[in-house]
Amino acid sequence: MIATAVAHPNIALIKYWGKRDEALNLPAAGSLSLTLAGLATTTTVEFDPALETDQINLDGHQLDPTSRPARRITAFLDLIRTPARIEARARVTSINDFPTAAGLASSASGFAALALAASQAAGLDLSPEELSALARQGSGSAARSIFGGFCEMKPGQRPDGQDAHAVPIADQNHWDLRCLIALTTRGEKKIDSTSGMNHTSQTSPFFQPFIDTVAPDIREAKKAIFSKDFAQLTRIAERSCLRMHASAIAADPGVIYWNGQTLEVVHALREAREEGLQAFFTIDAGPHVKIFCPGDALNEVRTFLKDLPGVHDVLTASPGPGAWLQT
Ligand code: PMV
Repeated sequence: MIATAVAHPNIALIKYWGKRDEALNLPAAGSLSLTLAGLATTTTVEFDPALETDQINLDGHQLDPTSRPARRITAFLDLIRTPARIEARARVTSINDFPTAAGLASSASGFAALALAASQAAGLDLSPEELSALARQGSGSAARSIFGGFCEMKPGQRPDGQDAHAVPIADQNHWDLRCLIALTTRGEKKIDSTSGMNHTSQTSPFFQPFIDTVAPDIREAKKAIFSKDFAQLTRIAERSCLRMHASAIAADPGVIYWNGQTLEVVHALREAREEGLQAFFTIDAGPHVKIFCPGDALNEVRTFLKDLPGVHDVLTASPGPGAWLQT
């Protein structure tokens, strides 16, 4: 009745932004990501019949069971308790070795680790695809952290969402890319991704045009990944990111995740690229900038980022494995 799992965050190269079903958390379109070693969430789940409520400890803080994050986790555990025919409440302890809720996709590694630890503790024997579909119900991007390396999220067509899960497309050893995360603020983000994407889908005239770009972008990005064409991946990943943000910015009122420094990094990076730096950016539902580069350009890109004014810190990650159980 106890299990511990580790999962890494992932960063989308082709962005997920918008749901086709909120209750089942089904994405409106696919997405494509790289799972990152170097940052991790470790989660232990123990079902204990002596508990009256789920006891959830995140990064050393005990959550109030009536708080929104605690209710979200309890609702997720119910998705496992029901098929496992377990009534017992759970003790959940989760540690991130990187800042939580700062647009660093901690919900991805968090729900991937929780899905694996809780299903194992409950005695459910799920396939990786079933685990991915389960993790998706906690957070859309978590479905991708079940797998390592490059993976594609399939939006699926079934109303029950069973076919809305990630699939691996190239393993972590396929291409030595690195991801550097330039932290442009120390605070937590203000608009969570679910609110931001729902508001975008409800009010932005650019939402559907963005969605229409996703499938062709995934096809082109896969070709670039298979042929290790960095220039082509640069073009496709930056345009996917900017189109996602364009749809959010065009909502009513517009959702702007960037701060001034976010844009400074983008401009400086594009200028340095003109001078030969091999790197591209992507940005999620927060102000930090994630920069991808080939492994042999890592030192040059890190020095470039550390010298930029307003970059507080730079985290470095490399292609990583999918979620695994700790024994
Ligand atoms: O998994 P969520 O619901 O936090 O959504 C993630 C959304 C983005 O990070 C902005 C894009 C993505 O595909 O990861």
